[in-house]
Amino acid sequence: MSLAAFPEAVHVRAPGKINVYLGVGARHDDGYHALATVFQAVSLYEDVIARADDDFSLSVSGVADPASVPLDDRNLAMRAAKLLATATGYTGGVHLEIRKSVPVAGGMGGGSADAAAALVACDALWGTGLSPHRMHELAARLGADVPFALHGGTAVGTGRGDQLNPALARGRFDWVLVTSDEGLSTPAIYSRLDVHRAESGALADDPPLSLDVPITVLQALRAGDPHSLAACMYNDLEVPALLERPTLDDIINEGLRAGALSGIVSGSGPTVAFLCETPEIAQLVQNELAVSGRTALHVHGPVPGARIISA
Ligand code: C5P
Repeated sequence: MSLAAFPEAVHVRAPGKINVYLGVGARHDDGYHALATVFQAVSLYEDVIARADDDFSLSVSGVADPASVPLDDRNLAMRAAKLLATATGYTGGVHLEIRKSVPVAGGMGGGSADAAAALVACDALWGTGLSPHRMHELAARLGADVPFALHGGTAVGTGRGDQLNPALARGRFDWVLVTSDEGLSTPAIYSRLDVHRAESGALADDPPLSLDVPITVLQALRAGDPHSLAACMYNDLEVPALLERPTLDDIINEGLRAGALSGIVSGSGPTVAFLCETPEIAQLVQNELAVSGRTALHVHGPVPGARIISA
């Protein structure tokens, strides 16, 4: 195939996620915890534009504090591009332009979305033709949430969160997200959970080595019923996130007073996700939170995973 067959630039969009349910079990020797989680991809996106280049470079826009996003190998999108090149024997490089909308260190998998988008974009740009299975494998090596950002929709994640099974979800769920200017460190929140469990005797037994998602969560999703889902949303990382950032409790209470069915810390936080009964109510909740000075966004899920917008 001639080089002319490959595009000069590829634009890929990947979604942020909410953990509708997140159960955390024991910490394994590799530092990762056993999880049982339900991800839902929501309509807040990262855009990655990949352009052919001799070297690997990165630019980022859409963030209030540019210093909060590394432009070197600490950046997951950069690591994704290099991993794909190594895995396929590709010898050129790429410039990745990342346009961020998902909050940085917000518990919504923004960095994972960048990595998933970079994999899909570079694969199309370089014509490396990775199979979906191989793509999933590389994604899982980059981070526990990266495979979900590739697949999108609603899915159950077990293992480290990277073993995915699609979950049936009927209709659309309306969420209001309240973001915070200052992020939280995911490893720090997991460690805080371990310390809290050890100190408080919060668990009668040792944390389990493998966990399941409660059937009630799957039934609520399948029924497309926000009331049932609101009743069983849960996050084991909420306690350590609240210990680290007690003001999140005020945000949860404000959203409930404004009319949300339920509010939960998303992933390791600090973003708070409110489930609302209808799009109209979500709009009202968003307005009310914005009037009281919060940064509130109305999104919906499920939406698809990383996909090519143009090439
Ligand atoms: O895989 P990812 O880079 O998203 O994980 C970030 C950190 O979150 C890990 O280094 C680990 O501290 C924590 N983590 C965990 N157990 C998981 C997923 C993440 O302890 N299943």
